[in-house]
Amino acid sequence: MKDTLPVDEKYRIHMTKYFQEYEASIKSTENFWKEKARIIDWFEPFSRVLDDSKKPFYRWFVNGKTNMSYNCLDRYINNEKRNKVAYIWIPEHGEEKVITYFGLYRRVNALAKALLNLGVKKGDGVTIYLPMILEAPIAMLACARIGAVFNVVFSGFGEEALAQRIDDSGSRTIITADGAYRKGKTVHLKKIVDAAIDLSRGVDNVIVVKNTKENIKMESGRDYYYDDIIEDSYVKPEELDSSDPLFILYTSGTTGKPKGIVHGNGGYPVWVANTMKWAFNPGEEDRWWCAADIGWITGHSYIVFAPLLLGVTSIMYEGAIDYPKPDRMWEIVERYGVNMLYTSPTAIRLLMKYGEKYPLMHDLSSLRVLGTVGEPINPAAWHWFYEEIGKSRCPIIDTYWQTETGGFTIAPSMALGMPDLKPGSATFPMPGIMPEILREDGTPAKSGEKGYIVLDRPWPGLMLTVNNDDKRYVDVYFSKYPGKYLMGDYAIKDEDDYYWLLGRSDEVLKVSGHRIGTIEIEDGLVSMKEVAEAAVFGKPDTVKGDTIIAFVTLKEGYEKSSELIDSLKKRMRTELGPIMVPEEIHIVDALPKTRSGKIMRRVIKAVYLNQVTGDVSTLENEASVEEIQRAMDIIRKGTGN
Ligand code: PRX
Repeated sequence: MKDTLPVDEKYRIHMTKYFQEYEASIKSTENFWKEKARIIDWFEPFSRVLDDSKKPFYRWFVNGKTNMSYNCLDRYINNEKRNKVAYIWIPEHGEEKVITYFGLYRRVNALAKALLNLGVKKGDGVTIYLPMILEAPIAMLACARIGAVFNVVFSGFGEEALAQRIDDSGSRTIITADGAYRKGKTVHLKKIVDAAIDLSRGVDNVIVVKNTKENIKMESGRDYYYDDIIEDSYVKPEELDSSDPLFILYTSGTTGKPKGIVHGNGGYPVWVANTMKWAFNPGEEDRWWCAADIGWITGHSYIVFAPLLLGVTSIMYEGAIDYPKPDRMWEIVERYGVNMLYTSPTAIRLLMKYGEKYPLMHDLSSLRVLGTVGEPINPAAWHWFYEEIGKSRCPIIDTYWQTETGGFTIAPSMALGMPDLKPGSATFPMPGIMPEILREDGTPAKSGEKGYIVLDRPWPGLMLTVNNDDKRYVDVYFSKYPGKYLMGDYAIKDEDDYYWLLGRSDEVLKVSGHRIGTIEIEDGLVSMKEVAEAAVFGKPDTVKGDTIIAFVTLKEGYEKSSELIDSLKKRMRTELGPIMVPEEIHIVDALPKTRSGKIMRRVIKAVYLNQVTGDVSTLENEASVEEIQRAMDIIRKGTGN
């Protein structure tokens, strides 16, 4: 492991504290984390900070006993935080609901009791499939309280995707709602759950929150209305080991099924609470709005856990940021006096497209800090956010991280000393994070040279493993450059040591900031009876980052038609969910393949995007130039390009 500082000496003056903390995190790791782990309470202290004897299966805060729900709630109920607002929940339509820390504590206990009554116990899997309503954090905290391992599935996923996650997580209990509101329409969640259960190995309990109050089918002995089973009482929080799993969250990769990323009870809370404090430094009076969905890691870490661990007041918004009108986000900022707004480049680009007129309709002077996550932010969007929204007063905290890292890895730090910001750069690593940019052959890239970003040391927020698949954990993250954590992104470190993230280095798409594996969409397409083969890739989009494009061939006996394309899209929507539906499906006679049978996706993409340059040999390693030329002809013929 290297032992150097991340930033050039010349920044020392205004970033003194950052340097001190960073240096301490690298040079006296044990002491540093011993101190930082005090951000949560421990029922039993840990005997060691880090056990790396089974690397890369690192275990933090060894033998420490704690509980996330206790740390988010019980710590406050006998002090001045008891009546502090935990969430101001804003529905798509209608009036807000306000819940205090004590109110949340009561409701979490009531649901924890109901879960225990149903027989759910420590180590059991629970799938949570809920819209952005207060019952979502309540359900997560209730599971955490009793040591049940929850798995939140984004409510934009369809029945097939849900079934897969129910089975892989071993869930016998589902917490869902009758329906959800989405841009004025109703999504029938319970119906999707019923269909998913039919596709799955089956479940014992389904707890249903009455949200839309629509008519639904309830199966006796299996389905229970939430309100009928909660019980006002106290449930003692389980004393969980640091390395007991807290939750599983599925995310896409290049190959195979989605990976169940497992985060634990000790390292993860220490990481999310410290990173939120370092990067945003929320004050006692601040109102924090993380405008993500709880179904993704951003919602887990920075709507639910970090803000509650720090005792912050959060805004939680049910609806879409541009519904019913394009000024919805700015209206909420004004009405609720939001001080810290954390959102995504996609959201910023969407709102920017509507124009300045909308933010100008509102008083945004409460804003103090802005943040982004999910994709690289392009300088134009950065400037718009900085100037039109923050009125050139609010720093932009561009946070680079991923599901597997638990919390921020590279981001400017309000608490430790802000560097001069460069639009589009996430700046410098958080304490404890040691990034390196490597070339394909593993040698370090020079300053300004693009390479793979890896992290050379473990940090407390690092996932424990991939659920049911320790081997995949090692293969995907620690085998390309043995011993170093591969983030799967390209990056550059510039002459001032700033990090610039350049997007994925694998075939994972970023659609509106959501990580989508091309393989899942291809699997979904070839599972349709008409489709023989499929190749999926991303088309750059000025708002969404990527849009999904699919090329398919049909099985014998099926004819190309626009009705068939519509029907494929419709079925993709039901089975995988709206976010997985390709924007375009092209039916072609053949898909070009290498001799070993691999579909030449990059050739198809280059031809489709009209990006074929002189040297085509770089498009596909496994094929000769003639084969690539032939492949391009096949695609050109198929698309009429
Ligand atoms: O490609 C990077 C991109 O999002 C990926 C992680 O996606 P996910 O696990 O869904 O988590 C998203 C929320 C943390 C990364 O590998 N990414 C995330 N944040 C940034 C980013 N790319 C550039 N700049 C960022 N700030």
